[in-house]
Amino acid sequence: MKNNGKEHMFEKNDEIKSPKGSILLAGGAGYIGSHTAVELLKSGYNVVIADCHYNSSPVIYDRLKQITGVDIVHYNIDVSVEEQLDRVFGENELAAVIHFAGHKAVGESVREPLNYYQNNLSTTFSLLRMMERYQVPNIIFSSSATVYGMENRSPVREDVKTGSCINPYGWTKYMNEQILRDLTRANRRLSAVLLRYFNPAGAHESGLIGEDPKDTPNNLMPYISQVASGRLKMLSIYGDDYDTPDGTGVRDYIHVVDLAKAHVKAVGYALEHKGVETFNIGTGTGYSVLELVHAFERVNHVRIPYRITGRRSGDLAVCYADSTKAQEILGWRAQKNLEDMCRDAWNWQKKNPQGYREA
Ligand code: UD1
Repeated sequence: MKNNGKEHMFEKNDEIKSPKGSILLAGGAGYIGSHTAVELLKSGYNVVIADCHYNSSPVIYDRLKQITGVDIVHYNIDVSVEEQLDRVFGENELAAVIHFAGHKAVGESVREPLNYYQNNLSTTFSLLRMMERYQVPNIIFSSSATVYGMENRSPVREDVKTGSCINPYGWTKYMNEQILRDLTRANRRLSAVLLRYFNPAGAHESGLIGEDPKDTPNNLMPYISQVASGRLKMLSIYGDDYDTPDGTGVRDYIHVVDLAKAHVKAVGYALEHKGVETFNIGTGTGYSVLELVHAFERVNHVRIPYRITGRRSGDLAVCYADSTKAQEILGWRAQKNLEDMCRDAWNWQKKNPQGYREA
């Protein structure tokens, strides 16, 4: 990026002495952001959260204080609005940004593509503009295995072809990745780490924070939890005629605390490197829908009534990660297993039957 013929972006990078500066979590009040805040604080980083609570609750700050003892500096702002974000950058010494700020409901993205493209891209633009203005050279981006589209075989590696996404939500992840890739090519002081999440599940073991879908859950684990609690009547399993051992879809479920720890590693990596790197964040093991249902029943001593329905359009039979690269380069690997995810998801659900709304 040029300004008056002189490249000026991130030129003060060398002045960041301590790798333990503040980390801005844009959209950090949500499911993955809140768990990441806990792990960053545990690792000695200062955390600042900016979130408009479109899909999260301000109650989170009190919950985070109960877990960590820290009153997190937070801003109730729209990350896509530069003027609002300017205050956050102006008032804090930031070492890096983690960009969680985006809409994430696949079905909604099909119905409201313009909202998805506008919101999920404009949050990126405004963050990058502020990073430029305030010389913050490091960004971690919440990407998704959805960028692999329909054509890849599992275990999927980072270097296979991406694209052929099947919904606007997926395309926004793909486009944001491309924007960051292009930017790191143009600005050699910039560091971008793209984390491709597989299927986040579970909750913090305290049961104080967890996943709180705004409407009826789209994703499997929160749906199962709400069936277990009686809030929903029955799980629909979307097809049992896939080419998998039991016919139901296979995914790579990753405990949200493991995922949060991957962000801590990614921040450390971004602070010490330049350019762009992409990492799959999954366990490397796939479980079927029925395996997950049965594990949930076994671990939590509850019954999950279900029926088999037709396939959901756009679903793959099998999707799980090759996460060797994250192991080798970030020194990260998942430590928790499917039972931990089921136990912690249920603990959160039992303690917060209506999510954060009752608090
Ligand atoms: C979905 C999104 C993906 C997004 C990810 C975020 C689709 C097609 N994909 O991934 O873009 O990044 O969530 O977490 O929506 N299932 C049921 N019954 C249900 C819900 C799910 O049988 O009520 C099955 C699905 O068919 C699938 C598995 O459970 O086999 C996991 O589904 P889900 O949790 O929605 O995740 P993905 O589809 O993998």
